[in-house]
Amino acid sequence: MSVEISGLWYSYPDGTPALKNINLKIGPGERVALMGANGSGKTTLLLVLAGIFRGKGAVAVLGEHNLERNRGRIGLVFQNPDDQLFMPSVFDDVAFGPINLRLDHVDQRVAQALERVGLPGYERRCPHHLSFGEKKRVSIATVLSMEPELLLLDEPTATLDPRGKWQLLQILDQLPQTMVVATHDSGVASRVCPRTVLLNGGSIAADGSTDRLLSDEPLLEESGLKV
Ligand SMILES: Nc1ncnc2c1ncn2[C@@H]1O[C@H](COP(=O)(O)OP(=O)(O)OP(=O)(O)O)[C@@H](O)[C@H]1O
Ligand SMILES: [Mg+2]
Repeated sequence: MSVEISGLWYSYPDGTPALKNINLKIGPGERVALMGANGSGKTTLLLVLAGIFRGKGAVAVLGEHNLERNRGRIGLVFQNPDDQLFMPSVFDDVAFGPINLRLDHVDQRVAQALERVGLPGYERRCPHHLSFGEKKRVSIATVLSMEPELLLLDEPTATLDPRGKWQLLQILDQLPQTMVVATHDSGVASRVCPRTVLLNGGSIAADGSTDRLLSDEPLLEESGLKV
């Protein structure tokens, strides 16, 4: 299993409960949309899977209970590219992970990752001068360069225009990795993820086929995804 969680509870240090008794299994190669209203716990769950937050309960990711050992095997892409990009050049940002992990063929990894996101030859550009859509794609390249087994994407299409969104969905659809995608956007779920896990108030309200869940109007209303 790529993800195996049972009885996971997580509260923030100020006492705010964010995840309540999460039970979830995700197999290798699956693509799962994590849907739910604002504050339902999507980002928190991604951060637990990435090993950044530790909750109560059993969490195994890529077969590891000690999530620190998964460094380089999991690619977490933040919602805001400014949280991901901090180097003076695109090359430095995309090379950062592989250099840190002491991987070889760094130039080749960077070139391949940029090609994967449709930005070949962007190595010498300055990340802060890129368009928002380009920044999002470079953010994805910063994790692809490590060739992770599991991708965790937080609202990958938020604030993209229709063409930028379409391009990004094409890119995600062509990636081979197991994927967990937090999104409000039913278009992302239906285009990229055959399975959807619906969060409501920190609990799993539904887990099943994306098509079925997205056609269940009462369920979407109850979960705050439809008014
Ligand atoms: N650093 C924090 N300290 C305290 N509470 C927090 C913190 N971050 C998030 N929360 C709370 O945890 C709950 C889950 O938040 P989370 O960010 O995981 O939701 P989300 O589903 O990602 O929402 P959004 O769609 O707005 O991104 C919310 O009630 C939120 O207020
Ligand atoms: Mg969030």
